[in-house]
Amino acid sequence: MQKAMKQWVMASRPKGLVKVEDFRLEEVAIPNIRKGEALVKTLYLGVAPVMLRYMTNETTFEKPMEIGDVMIGRGVGCVVASKSVAFKEGDLLQTKLGWREYGVIKDEPYYMTYKMATQDLSPSYGVGALGMNGFTSLIGMQEICKVKKGDKVLVSGAAGSVGSMAGFVAKALGCDILVGIAGGPEKCTMLTESLGYDYAIDYKTDGVPKKLDELFPDGIDVFFDNVGGELLDEVLGRINRRARIAICGRISEYLIPPEAYHRPRNMYRIGLKDAKMEGFFVYDYQAEYPNYEKQLAQWIREGRLRPLEDIGIGLEEMPNALISLYKGTNGGTRMVKVFKDQGSVGKTSSINMP
Ligand SMILES: NC(=O)c1ccc[n+]([C@@H]2O[C@H](COP(=O)([O-])OP(=O)(O)OC[C@H]3O[C@@H](n4cnc5c(N)ncnc54)[C@H](OP(=O)(O)O)[C@@H]3O)[C@@H](O)[C@H]2O)c1
Repeated sequence: MQKAMKQWVMASRPKGLVKVEDFRLEEVAIPNIRKGEALVKTLYLGVAPVMLRYMTNETTFEKPMEIGDVMIGRGVGCVVASKSVAFKEGDLLQTKLGWREYGVIKDEPYYMTYKMATQDLSPSYGVGALGMNGFTSLIGMQEICKVKKGDKVLVSGAAGSVGSMAGFVAKALGCDILVGIAGGPEKCTMLTESLGYDYAIDYKTDGVPKKLDELFPDGIDVFFDNVGGELLDEVLGRINRRARIAICGRISEYLIPPEAYHRPRNMYRIGLKDAKMEGFFVYDYQAEYPNYEKQLAQWIREGRLRPLEDIGIGLEEMPNALISLYKGTNGGTRMVKVFKDQGSVGKTSSINMP
């Protein structure tokens, strides 16, 4: 086995949009593990808009980051050595590996480790469809919005990782009309041609209020919101009685200070329409992950969920992968395959690796 590995550390705290110079690539020795630890070879690393907020210490659920710390990040990896009773060689795990070729993990709640059961599908799905973003799309549509037959559903950030799966989930649950909002003509074509949406709205050029009126003449029953801000306000102005709104994220406001957040004028319509608006956090649903994985994997096998993956090759790609989320240049689940040639790793050698 190789003795040295690469890892990305935070070189400076981002101001505004994160830049490549905010990171530094280092070569270090692969750590020795101690009792209670496992060494995990990283196969795929995901990126998420929230990572910028890890770097500016703006989340309540992640440990504070100092300059020089390894970038916090989650991915899929295979246990290659273990001195922990919880993990054995060959286990395929979704966990907090950090932006590095090998991660050391412990069986502690901090790591939020999830052992994948699915063996017949690509392990890359552990970053997207069978991982936190897939679970997020299912929680938002099924648990929060309780999508049912006949619902008229709208999704914002529809061409991103969560949004690209939320549409399939809404259709699988029987919705009637499904509309996605994304930025640019290519993404809008992708929504209707590959991601199961009936109609797409390009928020950069279409004039969202007019399009919402056109596509929802009878109002909106369900809104899965990844974007927040003014868009949420426009939607509140068009909700039906007993509408359900899942506040999944609010990426339009992640780069601005709280004083600049949009104050919705139409909030009163929640009461007027006996509607429900609820935020949620995927990690609060850990007990349900095995059921979610089973459900989503089944939909993939049946062709009812077609995950869209946007895969960069090599750990070096991580900063650009994160930046792409803010520039909107990703489509579907943006991730990095850490080793060009992953080789055969433990038991995962028997599963399909792209
Ligand atoms: N609640 C939870 O537990 C949970 C879990 C996971 C993720 N999330 C949230 O879900 C949302 C989506 O996450 P993801 O990982 O799937 O990211 P993503 O959607 O794959 O990537 C971000 C996308 O957001 C769009 N965007 C960027 N800046 C924007 C802006 N100012 N206004 C409107 N759209 C903008 C871009 O698409 P366009 O080109 O279309 O603009 C970009 O591709 C995020 O808000 C994230 O924080 C929540």
